Amino acid sequence: MDFPNPVSRRRFLGGAAATAGILTLSPSELAAMIQGQGQAQAPRRTITEAEYDAIAKIGNNENCWGPPESVTQAMIKAMKYGNRYGYPDGNIVQEIANHHGVKAENVLLGAGSGELLDVVGLTFLNPDKKVVGSDPSYGSVYQQATTIKTEAIRVPLLPDYRQDIPALIKATKLHYRETGFVYVCNPNNPTGQIIPKREMKKLVEELPEDMPILIDEAYHHFVDTSDYETSVPYVLEGRPVIIARTFSKIAALAGMRLGYVITTPEIARKMRAHQTGTVNAVVKWGGVAALKDTAAMESVKKKTIALREATVRDLKGLGYESIPSHGNFFMVHIKRPVVPVIDAFRAKGIIVGRPFPPMLEHLRVSIGTEEEMGRFSKAFREIFTTTSAAGSKG
Ligand SMILES: Cc1ncc(COP(=O)(O)O)c(C=O)c1O
Repeated sequence: MDFPNPVSRRRFLGGAAATAGILTLSPSELAAMIQGQGQAQAPRRTITEAEYDAIAKIGNNENCWGPPESVTQAMIKAMKYGNRYGYPDGNIVQEIANHHGVKAENVLLGAGSGELLDVVGLTFLNPDKKVVGSDPSYGSVYQQATTIKTEAIRVPLLPDYRQDIPALIKATKLHYRETGFVYVCNPNNPTGQIIPKREMKKLVEELPEDMPILIDEAYHHFVDTSDYETSVPYVLEGRPVIIARTFSKIAALAGMRLGYVITTPEIARKMRAHQTGTVNAVVKWGGVAALKDTAAMESVKKKTIALREATVRDLKGLGYESIPSHGNFFMVHIKRPVVPVIDAFRAKGIIVGRPFPPMLEHLRVSIGTEEEMGRFSKAFREIFTTTSAAGSKG
């Protein structure tokens, strides 16, 4: 299936001039605009469409191909409900429930799964209740803990970058009274590593049975190994697990904001009390269409994995090893500090992933279009053969 890409045509027309334009923005302004990071000061100006289009955006684990035609058409049709509060919504909750073989009462929608991760924090954390999780991982849950004026008990990854399941169990038991919930990201962002199904079973079975476990499956659809499986069946067993899913990655709807959790009716009820966001009419119909377009999802998965593996092979040929990834991104060990390298890419109009302490000699690269990956590969060669640009250790 071929997805339309309106961006690339414009990039060829205005690319060079626009890239020069973005270089007048400070690195923090540009990062804030592209990566949606909060910043203390308002930017001097907003980024123009041409500037945005000219950037190779391989920093945010987005889906570079955009929604397939079936999803776009469904959303265009749903625009007619743009003036309503109540409207037919394509039965999105029931469609998600059917998709997973659960009941509608097990499903809670959110404006992106990020909203729901925050809601889990609001539901189970307070100044006396902390979150236990791996480090590094997707940081939003830990940031939310800081906002709630509590802490994260962070368990380092193993030397091969897998999540340390026995240590997560041990830390939770040790801090049982002060733990609100346990967070695991599977596959993990930023490493792309999975928690094998055997180890997930151990985690779920060995944690105290009343301990909520938030399992973030944002990158579920890109996994290609029988060692992994979704944790949704644990919800059906009645365990206090919360599975977070998003339409931002495989379904390319990051800008439209739609995610959901599958959990027990009791946890769903508790979480609902803390929700403030609402999901719009248009993306509900887009979500229903996305669930049905399995061919489009398969095509995105195939293209993503092929480009990821080709890029990883190319870097290996240059002497740089990557962590085996099951996501639409990977981490390469660059053998030098990552911050100047990120800046060097930005100076070439390429946004790569942010730093993930303590892995400060690893660069996270999201999978973009073939053209974007070509620009990455060319820039990588330039940056890594000029020692001054990136503070090489030689
Ligand atoms: C692991 C993980 N979880 C959740 C999210 C949030 O995604 P969204 O709010 O777009 O659904 C992201 C976004 O990058 C992510 O990487």
